[in-house]
Amino acid sequence: MLYKRTHTCGELNSKHVGEALVLNGWVDAWRDFGGLVFIDLRDRFGITQVVFEPEAGAELQARARDLRSEYVVGIKGTVARRLPGKENPRLPTGEIEVRVAELVVYNATPTPPFEMHGAEPNEELRLTYRYLDLRRPAMQQIFIVRHRLAQLMRRMMSEMGFLEIETPILGRSTPEGARDFLVPSRVHSGHFYALPQSPQLYKQLLMVSGFDRYFQIARCFRDEDLRANRQPEFTQLDVEMSFVDDHDVTSTMEILVAEMAREFTGQELKLPLPRHDYHDMMERFGSDRPDLRYDLELKDIADIAEATEFKVFQQAKEFGHRIRGLCAPGGGSKYSRKDLDGLTEFIGGMGARGLVWLKVEDSTLTGPTAKFFPPEAQQKLRDRFGASAGDLILIVADTQAITSQALSSLRARLAAELSLYDPKTFHYSWIVRFPLFAWDAEENRFVAEHHPFTMPLFEDLHLLDTEPAKVRAQAYDLVINGEEAGGGTIRCHDPEIQSKIFGLLGLTAEQAQEKFGFLLGALRNGAPPHGGIALGFDRLAMLYSGLTNIRDCIAFPKTARGTDLMTGAPGTVDPRQLRELHIRPS
Ligand code: AMO
Repeated sequence: MLYKRTHTCGELNSKHVGEALVLNGWVDAWRDFGGLVFIDLRDRFGITQVVFEPEAGAELQARARDLRSEYVVGIKGTVARRLPGKENPRLPTGEIEVRVAELVVYNATPTPPFEMHGAEPNEELRLTYRYLDLRRPAMQQIFIVRHRLAQLMRRMMSEMGFLEIETPILGRSTPEGARDFLVPSRVHSGHFYALPQSPQLYKQLLMVSGFDRYFQIARCFRDEDLRANRQPEFTQLDVEMSFVDDHDVTSTMEILVAEMAREFTGQELKLPLPRHDYHDMMERFGSDRPDLRYDLELKDIADIAEATEFKVFQQAKEFGHRIRGLCAPGGGSKYSRKDLDGLTEFIGGMGARGLVWLKVEDSTLTGPTAKFFPPEAQQKLRDRFGASAGDLILIVADTQAITSQALSSLRARLAAELSLYDPKTFHYSWIVRFPLFAWDAEENRFVAEHHPFTMPLFEDLHLLDTEPAKVRAQAYDLVINGEEAGGGTIRCHDPEIQSKIFGLLGLTAEQAQEKFGFLLGALRNGAPPHGGIALGFDRLAMLYSGLTNIRDCIAFPKTARGTDLMTGAPGTVDPRQLRELHIRPS
C-alpha cells in the first residue's frame, strides 16, 4: 500500500494549520512519553514532528511504539500548531506538528550501523553502507551543491554560446599522463578500447568540424595513484573554443568562475583574476598551485648559508643544491622541540634529509645549528625573512625538486597550524607560462607537462630545435586555495609543429602516424587555431562544500586502493566472459 504524499517533510509551517495531509519518510527519531508518542519524520527536504495522541486510539499508539530509527513509513494526519513553548526554532517546520490518524510501515529495518546525525562514522563503514551514508542530511547537502554547480555551468555555458556535445567513452587512448583503463574488444581479438582520460582529442576534432564553442560535463578515467583530491573516475567541465588566444579562454572562463563565486560563497570577484608566472610561483612558493590566501614566501639563503661552517650547507654548495627556507610568524613560540621533530619527519617523507630550524629571539637565533651562524649571518637571515621575535625560520638544503616539495608542503601545514588565513575565504588565480616539457629521468626522455597537443609560446618556438627544456607553453591552470581546479592550453593547430612535438616526446614519425594519424590528418584538413580548458568538477564541488576529501562529493567513490567497498568492484568475472574476450585467465 502507498499513501500518496501531499507534502514533503520540509515545507510545513503555521500557514498549514488545520490541513489534512499525507507525509512519507524515514523515522529520524522517536520519543515515547507514555501518553504521547513523537516521531521525527525525515525526507531529503527536511524533518517534521508527527505525534500519536491517545485520541488516535490505543492500537495506533501501540504500532507507533514499535517504530524504530530508519523505518520507512507513511502517515495521514492533520497539521496542528505546537503548544506554546514547544516550538523548535532550529527546524523550519518547528512551529507545527502533525497529529496522526493513520500509519503505514513500508519497511522495517535492523538497527543502522551508524547514526544519521552527529559524529562522522568511520569511512570504511560509510563506504560499505554508502546508500545509508548518503541518506545522512550532511551528505545530502553536498549533492545539492553538486547539482546546483552542474546547473549553473550548463546555464552559463549555454548563455555564452557554447554547445553541449557528447564524446565517446569507448575510444582510443588520449594521453594525459596517467595509465589507461582498457576495455577488451570481443569482436576484434587482441584489440582494446581505452576509456578517455579526457575528451581532449575529440573536442579538438569538433573544432576542426566547425563546432566553435563546445562544452561537456564529461566523465574521465585515469588509472593513477589516488590521493585525497583524485579519483580514478571523475568529472570535468570540458571546454573548447576556436580562433582564440589564452586570454580569450581565461577571460571567458572567468565569467563562469565569477558566477560560481557569487552563487556559492557570496563573493564578488574582481576580474580579471591575477595571473602568475609558473617560474615565479615555483621560486616564491615551491609549487605551481600555491595557496595564495597567505604569504609565507620561500627565500633563497644560499649566499648566507654557504658562508657558514655548517657541513650540510658546504655539501649543498658542492652538489649544486639549493638552500631555501621560510619564516613562520609566531612559530618559534608555538612549536616545541617535539613538534619540530614532527616537522622534520614530515618532510623526510618527501625525501628531504633534514630540516634546520632556528627560533627567533629578541637578540639572537636559537636552535641546535644557531652556533654556526655568526651574529652578522644571523642578522642577514633576519633581514632576508623580515623575521621578528617569536618567529621560526626553517631551512632545507637539497635539490630544486626536494626543496620545493618539502617547503611548499611545510608552508601549507604551518599556515593551517598557525591559523594564518581564514579557511572560509577563497582565492582564485591563474598560473601561466608552464614549461612545455618535463624531463622524465626514469624514461630518459621528455614528457609533456600538460599534454602533447599544447602550443608553445610563439616567442619560444625557435627553441624547440635547440633548447626544448626552455620552451614555455601557452598553458594556464586555475588555482583555488592551493587546489588545481582546472587546466588548459592553446593547441597546436599547425600539423608541422604538432609533428615536431611528437618527435621531441620520443615518437618516431611512424609511431606518431599510427597513434595520432587521425589528429594529424584533421589538422591538415582545415583546423582553426583553437584552445580550451577543463575544470575539475568534483574538486569544485569539494571546495564549495567546504570539504578536503574528494570522496565525500562523489556519490559512489572508490577507496584509495581503487575499490568500491559496497559493490566489491573490481570483481572477478565468469571464465566464459573472459574466453569471449579472448583473455586467458591466469
Ligand atoms: P587536466 O589533466 O589538467 O587537463 O584535468 C583538468 C582538471 O581535472 C581535474 N582532475 C581530477 N579530478 C579528480 N580526480 C582526478 N584523478 C583528476 N585529474 C584531473 C583537475 C584538473 O585541473 N584535457 C585537459 C584539459 C584541456 O587541456 O583542455 C585535461 O584533462 O581539477
